Amino acid sequence: MKILISLTTVMFVASVQSSSIHLSPKGQDGQSVSDNRSPGTRARERLMNTLLANYVKSVNPGPYDGSPLQINMSLSLINLDSVDTKERIIETHSLLWMTWTDERLSWNPSDYHEVNKLHMPTDSIWIPDIDLLNNDGDANKPVSDMIADVTSDGSVIYAPELHLKSLCETGQEAPEAARIARILGSSELVCKLLFGSWTYDTTEIKLVTPSSQMDMSTLIRLSADNFHVKSTSVEVDHKTFNCCPNDENKKKLPIQFATFTIVISNNPIYRRGYNTR
Ligand SMILES: *[C@@H]1O[C@H](CO)[C@@H](O)[C@H](O)[C@H]1NC(C)=O
Repeated sequence: MKILISLTTVMFVASVQSSSIHLSPKGQDGQSVSDNRSPGTRARERLMNTLLANYVKSVNPGPYDGSPLQINMSLSLINLDSVDTKERIIETHSLLWMTWTDERLSWNPSDYHEVNKLHMPTDSIWIPDIDLLNNDGDANKPVSDMIADVTSDGSVIYAPELHLKSLCETGQEAPEAARIARILGSSELVCKLLFGSWTYDTTEIKLVTPSSQMDMSTLIRLSADNFHVKSTSVEVDHKTFNCCPNDENKKKLPIQFATFTIVISNNPIYRRGYNTR
């Protein structure tokens, strides 16, 4: 009986030893795979894990002093896709640039192999719910909105690509063009793209438009159906909405929106305007 027990013990120990012998080459293989990662990749992985460890993406960033979060906005026009003069609707393709600072996403590059910039998936960090407010139809969904660029000082750059359908008004031709417009029967449309957030009021976010014009440097096709971009302008407006029609005291705080105005004309005198191709 004693012999049998000790024999079982010997067999058990032997099997543990053999399985540990069997396991150790596997462990070494795992090690060699992780060794293939460059120090930069390892630093970026460690940084991504550290930044997101206690990050609550539904909470908006804001300066410690309680002032609103500044969001810089600009719009780069890529294409003027179509102009519907009857319905006064234009379709455009553009990039909406938004930059802000999220202090939770800052780090010291010397702690991370001098990594200064990280591409972060937009579904893992806070992104403002800024949308086209005067949209028409459902052509406003971002084409791509997957990545934001984050720099070590906590500044975030997010630029969704947008296909927009917007309503326009008939414009007033300038005096020198009006005579030609009358002869040719040409017309002008003023199209305003209003971007803002329905949820964050002016105490929480502050929209800033550093440039007074839209960016045309990314433009691929600036003319559609004989219409050309004549001019653009950019400004920030406020609007106060009544939340509860019967209670004047419960006025909602003002909402801000960045207004990007595109003036297009099919008067041939503007043909050379921005259309340098
Ligand atoms: C926003 O634009 C201003 C210039 O108008 C600039 O000083 C500031 O650094 C910008 N902020 C961010 C987060 O890019």
